[in-house]
Amino acid sequence: MSGPSRAAGRPAGGAATGGRAAGEHALRGAVGGEAIEPLAVVRGVVVPGDRRGRLLGFPTANLRPGPGAQLPPFGVYAGTAGGRPAAVSIGVRPTYGSGLEPLLEAHLLDFEGDLYGVELEVVLLHRLRPELAFAGEAELIAQIAADVAEVRRLVSPG
Ligand SMILES: Cc1cc2nc3c(=O)[nH]c(=O)nc-3n(C[C@H](O)[C@H](O)[C@H](O)COP(=O)(O)O)c2cc1C
Repeated sequence: MSGPSRAAGRPAGGAATGGRAAGEHALRGAVGGEAIEPLAVVRGVVVPGDRRGRLLGFPTANLRPGPGAQLPPFGVYAGTAGGRPAAVSIGVRPTYGSGLEPLLEAHLLDFEGDLYGVELEVVLLHRLRPELAFAGEAELIAQIAADVAEVRRLVSPG
């Protein structure tokens, strides 16, 4: 059941802002259509980011974890957000300097729209890679495009 991408890191059990255990969800992955046990489920209200994602070509819904909430380990994940396939980044965006607050950002594939204020459930299914500091924006954009391609391969739309 656990593919190679699962070995990279497992979050502390039940790391979910909404207090829901990841094991309550059984989703279907594209690979073989088998049920996949999520690594983590995070719920939160979508807050405004600095809107850079739109400029990069990959707009994101940003979830700020509530006080005391635990985020899964920093990194990039394939999963779903609001039931749609999503490329999810958790971390502090080191490409843009240091000292930024930890954030969960979800890029929903094939979705355009305003999600501010919406409560979103983000399900992390596969860990893709650690968060990286890129030398420039072009490199970051190329990597996010590759991440999105990976999500298309790994996660089937509802
Ligand atoms: C799939 C994905 C992967 C990302 N990977 C990284 C990364 O490795 N390093 C990084 O500094 N930022 C990464 N980011 C975060 C982007 O820098 C961030 O989405 C962008 O700056 C927009 O921020 P904003 O929503 O606050 O405007 C990633 C974002 C996404 C959606």
